[in-house]
Amino acid sequence: MLVLRNATNSDRSALVELLAKANMGYVEPIKAYTLALEGAIIAGCARLEDHGDIVMLRPLVVAEKYRRKGLGKHILSRIMPDDKPTIVAARDESIPFYTAIGFNKTGWHAVSDEQRDECELCPERTVCNPQPMIYIPDS
Ligand SMILES: CC(C)(COP(=O)(O)OP(=O)(O)OC[C@H]1O[C@@H](n2cnc3c(N)ncnc32)[C@H](O)[C@@H]1OP(=O)(O)O)[C@@H](O)C(=O)NCCC(=O)NCCS
Repeated sequence: MLVLRNATNSDRSALVELLAKANMGYVEPIKAYTLALEGAIIAGCARLEDHGDIVMLRPLVVAEKYRRKGLGKHILSRIMPDDKPTIVAARDESIPFYTAIGFNKTGWHAVSDEQRDECELCPERTVCNPQPMIYIPDS
């Protein structure tokens, strides 16, 4: 059975490893991450940044073994706000996932300055080919 909870200091090394496998970096604080755990194994993680009128999803990762079982969708359904939009700079390969769960393509103006700068300066940009996407909850 999978359980969702906030990450704690003792999760740091396993979380960093999961993120690194997906070519993603870890940023403090640890408690900003939500983990999906199967026993002691981190099956997935997500982190939201609150920017007042929107939240940025940075990042969402599901461990390879647990993909295509509905976990990414489940984590987001539990953490995304229902009173403001969620924005993500989606990797090219993850666009079908975000589209399937109700995100639509948007412009870079919707993305936080920090995320935009990170994508602009990223050496992986041509591989990743990020696309800003937005989820607007039903009103
Ligand atoms: C993107 C990611 C988080 C998706 O997580 P997941 O748990 O595998 O996704 P789900 O099982 O919840 O998928 C929900 C629906 O999205 C769609 N979907 C998910 N992955 C897909 C893929 N690779 N290709 C096409 N459609 C996909 C499907 O419609 C799926 O429903 P279905 O399996 O019933 O057909 C996961 O693949 C991942 O961690 N990738 C590496 C890191 C990454 O790219 N993160 C996003 C950064 S912006």
